[in-house]
Parts: sequence; C-alpha cells; structure tokens
Amino acid sequence: MPKFRFAIVGCGVIHGTHIDAIKALPEEAELVAVCDEDASRATSAGTKNGVPAFTDLATMLKETDFDILCVCVPSGLHAKVGVMGANAGKHIICEKPIDVSLEAADALIDACAKNSVKLVVISQSRYSTGMRKLKQYLAEGKMGNLCYAESVTKWYRSQEYYDSGGWRGTWELDGGGALMNQGVHYVDQLLYAMGPVKSVAATMATRAHERIEVEDIVSATIEFESGAVGTLLAATCMYPGYRQGLEVYGTGGTALIENNRMRHAQFTDGTEKRGMFGVEAKEPEIKDFKAQGAETEENSGGTHGASDPTAIELNGHVEHFKDLIGAIAENRDTFMNGKEARNALELILAVYQSARSGQRVYLPLSE
Ligand SMILES: NC(=O)c1ccc[n+]([C@@H]2O[C@H](COP(=O)([O-])OP(=O)(O)OC[C@H]3O[C@@H](n4cnc5c(N)ncnc54)[C@H](O)[C@@H]3O)[C@@H](O)[C@H]2O)c1
Repeated sequence: MPKFRFAIVGCGVIHGTHIDAIKALPEEAELVAVCDEDASRATSAGTKNGVPAFTDLATMLKETDFDILCVCVPSGLHAKVGVMGANAGKHIICEKPIDVSLEAADALIDACAKNSVKLVVISQSRYSTGMRKLKQYLAEGKMGNLCYAESVTKWYRSQEYYDSGGWRGTWELDGGGALMNQGVHYVDQLLYAMGPVKSVAATMATRAHERIEVEDIVSATIEFESGAVGTLLAATCMYPGYRQGLEVYGTGGTALIENNRMRHAQFTDGTEKRGMFGVEAKEPEIKDFKAQGAETEENSGGTHGASDPTAIELNGHVEHFKDLIGAIAENRDTFMNGKEARNALELILAVYQSARSGQRVYLPLSE
C-alpha cells in the first residue's frame, strides 16, 4: 500500500507531536512538507525533517502533492486554514479545539463534506486507558443510571506561557482561556461519557495572570439531557498544576479517572475494584479500540501538561492518525469527527455565555 503523504501547517509547540506520530507509522505515513508563516520556524522544521518548507499555505497546496494536512496553527485559524486544505482535496487532521466559533466549525465541517474529505479533530484523551475502561463499563451497563459527573482540569500556566505567543489568551485566536485551550480535552471526555448537555450555569474569573483577555478559572454546573447532574472546572491558575480528571457516579457504581488512568472503579455487584490505594482488581478487557495494548497503565498518566504545555503524550495522536488512515481506506467516518468536536465547542461557548450573562444557558446555542 502506498504511504499517505502528510504536510503540516503551523510549526510551533504542537507540530513536533504530529511529526512524531507520522514517524510512529513508518509503513503507512510520511511527512512531505511543512509550512509556517514565520520563515525561521518553517526553515528549521523543514531542515530538521528533510522536507521542503513553505511560508504560505496556498503555495504549499499548489506545489506539493500530499493527502493529509495537519492543522497546527492558532485555534482561531483552524477553520480558515482547514477549509483551504479541504477545498484542495486534502483530508484534515485539526488540532483541538475545532475552532473558536460555531460558525467557523460549521464552515470546516461543511467544506470537508462538500469535498468528500475526512476530518479528525484531536482529542487524545479519548484513547487513554482510563476512558477506554470507562466506556467499557458504560457499554456493559455496570454504571447503572448515571447520577453525577465531575470534570476537572486543575492546571497551571505561567505568565511566560501566555506572553510566549501573541495569540495566547486572546478571545479572537485562543477563543477563551483555561476552558477553551486546556479544559477542552476533558470537556470532550465529559460529553463522551455522559452524553448531551441540556443547560449550564457558570462563573469565571482571571485571578493569576496579566495581559490576557480570557479566564484562567471557570466553574460550571451542568444539567445533562439524561437528567444527570454535573460540574465542570478548568483552571490554569492552580500552581504548580495538579490533576485532570473525570469522576462518574451511577446507580451501579463509581469510576474515577485521574490523568487519563482509571484510578478506582467500584460496582454495587462487587465484581470490580481497581486502581489506586493498593486495591487489587481484575483488569477489564479493552474491546472498543483497535489499538488494544498500545498504551499501558504504566505509560498512561504522567503530568499531561499540568504545568508544562509541551508535556504531551504521543499515543493518542498516533491513534487519531491511524483512525484517519483507516477511515480513508475503508471510506468510513472518523472516530473523532467534526460533529463530536463541535459538541465540545458548543458546551464551552455555552459556559462562557452563562458566565458573561449571569444566566443559565440552554443548548443548542443559536449562534
Ligand atoms: N492536543 C494537544 O494536547 C495540544 C497541545 C498544544 C497545542 N495544541 C493546539 O495546537 C494549536 C497550535 O498551538 P501551539 O501551542 O503549537 O501554537 P504555537 O504558537 O506554538 O504555533 C503556532 C504556529 O502557527 C504559525 N502560524 C500562524 N498562522 C499561520 C498561517 N496562517 N499559516 C502558517 N503558519 C501559521 C505560527 O507562526 C506558529 O509558529 C492550537 O490550536 C492549540 O490549541 C494542542
């Protein structure tokens, strides 16, 4: 099978993870070009990887033959850049969030549909051992009727982080702060586990940073369509940076995920106990992903960017890349498609709307 040819636009912090994911699939994937409007970043990435470097996406699209475009530019440019790629017939791997407005997200989703190209939006925690186990418990009915879920991102970002790029901490290009940029990962996990949200009521503040327009802490209470209740917290002001976690409580039991690992799960039938505090338990078989065994309890977890934005584990990105290649080969939809990513964006925008207005906000939004 010929290799899928990848090109990357945006050669900043996250692009190295995309290069590593391509390298992790040597039989299926190869990098053929890079682009960054900053000439020194483009040249450096091109030289390091032995591929042509461009400073303009339109030129790269015109002059390079490739299949898949990795969109690694600032969040508020994802749709603009992704639509250019889709209109040129390229499949798209877009970094999270899909974009920062529903209008932009819809433009990207529509352009991919119109051009019959696939779209993946990165949400690497979906492939973690913790989420795989939770989804299995849910599929088996072990959790019973869901009562409550709590999603927290208790992270820290320094002032230097926000000062490191003109787009960071702006509504226009970051689209928000702790929730849109860092919390989006566990907003998606919350929806993936609990299903659609009916309404939110939120409070936000900027407590620990200067020269940013956006929040560094936000907290929301959630009413799910199922009738379950939830809370959502995202912060980048919690020095030195603690856990990202999802707790789910149902009539059948409790599952606690911490930093992508299943820390503890206990069910009313007494069949499962698992995780931390020395409680021994049977390891559940993972059924819902092809990449079984790609990640272990030992390599899942870690800091997950609690204080370091470059501390990104590779496995989730590799799984997203494999999924896209499989979706193209089998002509099926991708696992983390545009609609799923749009749902996370919509919830984040609803939280912001509620925090600004002081009112409970009902979904769907009518933006
Ligand atoms: N999945 C994750 O865990 C994760 C981690 C970090 C960042 N991200 C996401 O990746 C995206 C990029 O973040 P980053 O931290 O790498 O940002 P960055 O500022 O380090 O890099 C962005 C790069 O894009 C370039 N760029 C901007 N506009 C461009 C254009 N029109 N054409 C070509 N190049 C352009 C900039 O010059 C810069 O080099 C963001 O959306 C962010 O949310 C995801």
